[in-house]
Amino acid sequence: MTWHLSDPQLLQHSPFIDGQWLTVDRTFPVVNPATGAEIAQVGDGSPALVEQAVTAASRALPGWSRRSAYERADILRQWYQLILAHQEDLANILCMEQGKPLAEARGEITYGASFVSWFAEEGLRAYGDVLPGHRADMRLFVLKQPIGVVAAITPWNFPNAMITRKIAPALAAGCTVIVKPAEETPLSALALAELARRAGFPEGVLNVIPCERPVAVSEAIMAHPAVRKVSFTGSTEVGKRLVLQSAPTLKKLSLELGGNAPFIVMDDADVARAVAGAITAKFRNAGQTCVCANRIFVHRNVHDAFVEGYQTALASLTVGHGMDAGVAIGPLINQQALQKVERLVSDAVDAGANLVTGGGAHPLGGTFYAPTLITDVEPSMDICREEIFGPVAAVIPFSSDQEVLEKANFTRAGLAAYLYGKDLSRVWQLAEALEYGMVGINTGMLSTAAAPFGGIKESGFGREGSKYGLDEYLTLKYIAMEV
Ligand code: SIN
Repeated sequence: MTWHLSDPQLLQHSPFIDGQWLTVDRTFPVVNPATGAEIAQVGDGSPALVEQAVTAASRALPGWSRRSAYERADILRQWYQLILAHQEDLANILCMEQGKPLAEARGEITYGASFVSWFAEEGLRAYGDVLPGHRADMRLFVLKQPIGVVAAITPWNFPNAMITRKIAPALAAGCTVIVKPAEETPLSALALAELARRAGFPEGVLNVIPCERPVAVSEAIMAHPAVRKVSFTGSTEVGKRLVLQSAPTLKKLSLELGGNAPFIVMDDADVARAVAGAITAKFRNAGQTCVCANRIFVHRNVHDAFVEGYQTALASLTVGHGMDAGVAIGPLINQQALQKVERLVSDAVDAGANLVTGGGAHPLGGTFYAPTLITDVEPSMDICREEIFGPVAAVIPFSSDQEVLEKANFTRAGLAAYLYGKDLSRVWQLAEALEYGMVGINTGMLSTAAAPFGGIKESGFGREGSKYGLDEYLTLKYIAMEV
């Protein structure tokens, strides 16, 4: 396998702890999901490395947290500039290990960098408070202080941006960090660490533990009393396990878990715009995002026009290797993901849904799945109850606002929802009544560093990005003084 990187040093293969690349006994393979070919061997982290990383992060904490927010912002800005300067290499690494099209990978690098730049600024605004005293001789103050050593457990679907979205606010707040990237995509995390090293983060402030056996490493992180906060993006099932594991040491958690996003097209929607939005909301990253449209509810009056437009738009999406020009949809991450999508589609079709297009493995083989559109889907089908995480659009007809609201909210998830319509009063009432942490109105794309990303119900808690994202890494200290 040949890599074409302008800066080969970005391709690192070892755990990064206390400012050093460590040689470890065991390695594990990283595979390109588009070809199934091994693209790297990476040093395998272990619970013993967790101990080493926590020791380094704990040692670095007093020095880093006592620096002024301005000094931390300077280093974050330097990191931001380096990420942008190496965008092409980072996008190549990301495309190779994750499979998303190169253009989309470039977009993820910009998106990821935007969190670094945002929190370099936001860290300067961690204002405390002076409170009116309850007695004439009392002065009351509230300080915001870094929570301590933070661990970020990050997913494979955004191997770059989910790291920066978690650790940029932590670093800006004065915390030190341990990253455990997904076993499928450690290379992007290690490249970010190399750039952080060049940006001038002191030793021990950022540590990265790639590993093949995530359960043992995560357990060691969760059990460690010096880790005061864990931010996790991944499945609801794992999120619930982390909640249980956090109890003995009472860690603060942020959990960004699975979604089951409704995408609602009302009878007065601009159908062409809704089609374009539903393509973005469904097929970004081959349908492998937590905010992907999972259930597309279309009003019966515009149903046929929507389905026709959607089928045409879908036919124009090229499936292929992310490195090839013009590709819009890459492979699924692994065989397990493929099997899940196959199961959900055949279950829906067996139960009476109408297969309009796609509906099986793509001729490219491997983990490629044909972009699929199915209609006449019922809320009772597994495809409506589970997160599809694949390039399959499931359309459900509806007749009234009340009906669609009940159906859209009939899920234990509550991450993102989308709504297309022109009547502002109806749109607003629905947006308020949708039980989700985020609602997009006439847009299929919600994500930005400026906004609070996160869910309710079993999609988790905590917010990432925005002015609220910084608070996840700060604690309040109240100081009372008698004068
Ligand atoms: C996710 O799928 O978890 C993140 C998607 C995003 O940031 O837009």
